[in-house]
Amino acid sequence: TVGKSTNIKWHQCSVGKADRQKLLNQKGCVIWITGLSGSGKSTVACALSQLLYQRGKLTYILDGDNVRHGLNRDLSFKSEDRAENIRRVGEVAKLFTDAGVICIACLISPYRTERDACRALLPSGGFIEVFMDVPLEVCEARDPKGLYKLARAGKIKGFTGIDDPYEQPLDPEIILKCNTGDCSSPYDMAEKVVSYLEEKGYLQ
Ligand code: PPS
Repeated sequence: TVGKSTNIKWHQCSVGKADRQKLLNQKGCVIWITGLSGSGKSTVACALSQLLYQRGKLTYILDGDNVRHGLNRDLSFKSEDRAENIRRVGEVAKLFTDAGVICIACLISPYRTERDACRALLPSGGFIEVFMDVPLEVCEARDPKGLYKLARAGKIKGFTGIDDPYEQPLDPEIILKCNTGDCSSPYDMAEKVVSYLEEKGYLQ
């Protein structure tokens, strides 16, 4: 959508992103965790924020389920609303990175175009896409909220993976794979992300 505000100018302050990052001793970035419902996005996000907290790093989690209780409470699961959900979270995540924070966004974010649009909002390298590569059968067997059962029974329409699409990332920075019910622990998965951040200089 095209911006509808006219006659607006960007206001710059003397304290900027670089100053805030220095204060926090870290670099702001977005860790965008995408995957099916029940793939473990929120669990890995929490483990990651805990690991980084232990290292004195400031994170903030934007969880689709949680954000839909407030900022995005006006949005449904139809495709336009999912797109708007992702766009808004992408913009908020960008603000967090500008604050110097390591922002962990965990949403199904089923559409490649919308995820790529969020990537485009950030400086090169600042958007780290993490794909929870967990087959539908595994997510469905877990069914932590009983939603797959409802979707199969036709009581939820347009459920991702059942009667709504999920487009896998083509070239994510990190893949957290789990083929069977026997996966590595959320902490082991989160450690992979920590190593990546370390390697790329985000933790300093
Ligand atoms: S999206 O597609 O990115 O806009 O979805 P998101 O904001 O991440 O919200 C996903 C959670 O909402 C619950 N839920 C559904 N998911 C998929 N499809 C439909 N129709 C649906 N209805 C409700 C579900 O609990 C998702 O939680 P997670 O954490 O992904 O399991």
